[in-house]
Amino acid sequence: MEGDKGTVCLTGGTGFVGSWLIKRLLQEGYSVRTTVRADPENKRDLTFLTSLPGVAEKLKIFSADLNDPNSFDAAIEGSKAVLHVATPLSFDGKESLEAVTERSTSGALGILKACLRSKTVKRVVYTSSAATVIYNGQETDMMDESFWTDVDFVMQKLNPKTHPYLISKTFTERAVLEFGTQHGLDVVTVNPGLVVGPFICPRFPDSVRSSLALVLGNRSEYGILLNIPMVHVDDVGSTIVLPTP
Ligand SMILES: NC(=O)c1ccc[n+]([C@@H]2O[C@H](COP(=O)([O-])OP(=O)(O)OC[C@H]3O[C@@H](n4cnc5c(N)ncnc54)[C@H](OP(=O)(O)O)[C@@H]3O)[C@@H](O)[C@H]2O)c1
Repeated sequence: MEGDKGTVCLTGGTGFVGSWLIKRLLQEGYSVRTTVRADPENKRDLTFLTSLPGVAEKLKIFSADLNDPNSFDAAIEGSKAVLHVATPLSFDGKESLEAVTERSTSGALGILKACLRSKTVKRVVYTSSAATVIYNGQETDMMDESFWTDVDFVMQKLNPKTHPYLISKTFTERAVLEFGTQHGLDVVTVNPGLVVGPFICPRFPDSVRSSLALVLGNRSEYGILLNIPMVHVDDVGSTIVLPTP
């Protein structure tokens, strides 16, 4: 521990990336307020979070859901930065594009409004995805902030099961950056490829499973290995720069 560096709110603490970032933040001396979805029957085992070293004074867990964009206020209050990580990494095609996009954008904008109300949040980091950049329809491997995934290209060329995730992430990233500009809030986005590496969450993360497709013999996922860049979960963490006290 390097001492108290202030409080950071992280949404989606139960997920692969979120739980790993919590572990790192605690190690680096931050206090963390994280959100999980409501569990009225108390069936969920959160010991993978609550047994982390130094957790007693440093980690507070709140209930919030992207379906209720106003539910994040309590978790955000008093934080100096917010890492918005919550989003299901879902490609099962069970929900419509419209429903997924509405929840993702409204939830993210609700979080940004709570950041403004808090008067303490100096930076918001939205965990976006390489998916908002790489399907731009252009023949290039070199891309920067000016590249955006082309929704028409996604609709015409890619598997319909991927549409809700790819398009909702693209619209949400655009919306959070626009909100930041309009309201003078420091909003930055990170765009990881397939996130791989160790994990502490109890569920075998989909992206880690995909990265092991050759080992596991999951032929249907071989294409992912050829087409999507990979990044180690610790490198995602290192990309995130938090405001100094
Ligand atoms: N893993 C990758 O390869 C990858 C690549 C690029 C970008 N990303 C981005 O990184 C972030 C985390 O990904 P991940 O791999 O860690 O996914 P994950 O393991 O599926 O975690 C998703 C998190 O979001 C929460 N969540 C889902 N629906 C929610 C809702 N309606 N309200 C509030 N929270 C909700 C989940 O809570 P429950 O536990 O309750 O479901 C979980 O904590 C996502 O934004 C994803 O787009 C991931």
